[in-house]
Amino acid sequence: MSGRREERLVANLMIALGSDHAAFEFKEAIKAYLLEKGYQVHDLGTCGADRVDYCDFGFRVGEAVAGGACEKGIVFCGTGVGISISANKVKGVRAVVCSEPYSAKLSRQHNDTNVLALGARVVGIELAKMIVDVWLDAQFEGGRHLDRINKIAEYEGRR
Ligand code: RB5
Repeated sequence: MSGRREERLVANLMIALGSDHAAFEFKEAIKAYLLEKGYQVHDLGTCGADRVDYCDFGFRVGEAVAGGACEKGIVFCGTGVGISISANKVKGVRAVVCSEPYSAKLSRQHNDTNVLALGARVVGIELAKMIVDVWLDAQFEGGRHLDRINKIAEYEGRR
C-alpha cells in the first residue's frame, strides 16, 4: 500500500476513547499518540481524576462503535477488565482486554474485535502503544472465523 493511501485510511478512521479515573492520564497519553499518528479520536471521557464508574464509559464507547459513529473503540481502566466487560454488554461489541501484542493481533484476525481494552495499572505506556499499533493494523481474516462471529451474533440476537 502506498504511503499516501495509508495516510488517508488512517485519517478516516474514527476511534472512540473512554476511561475511568484510574486510567485518565493513560487515556490522555494514548489519545495524544493516536492524534500524532493521524487518527481521529472521539473522546467520551472521563475528563479528570474524579472517581467515576468504569461501566458508564464502557457503555458509551460500546454504543459509539456498535451504533456506527466510530469504527473502533479503545477503553481503559485500572486492569482493563471492568471496562471491557461493560463494553461487551453492548450488542454488536466484541471487546478484548490485552496486555501483550499477540492476543491483540489475533483478536483482530480471528475475532474481529472492535474494542480494545487496556489496563493502566497492568501495562506500561510504551507496551500499550505497541499493542494499540498491532491491534489497529491487523485485519479480520473472515472465512471460518466469520462463521463463528455470526454464531455469536445470532446468540446475542436471541437474548
Ligand atoms: C478502579 O479502582 C478500578 O476498580 C477500575 O479501574 C478497574 O480496574 C476495574 O476493572
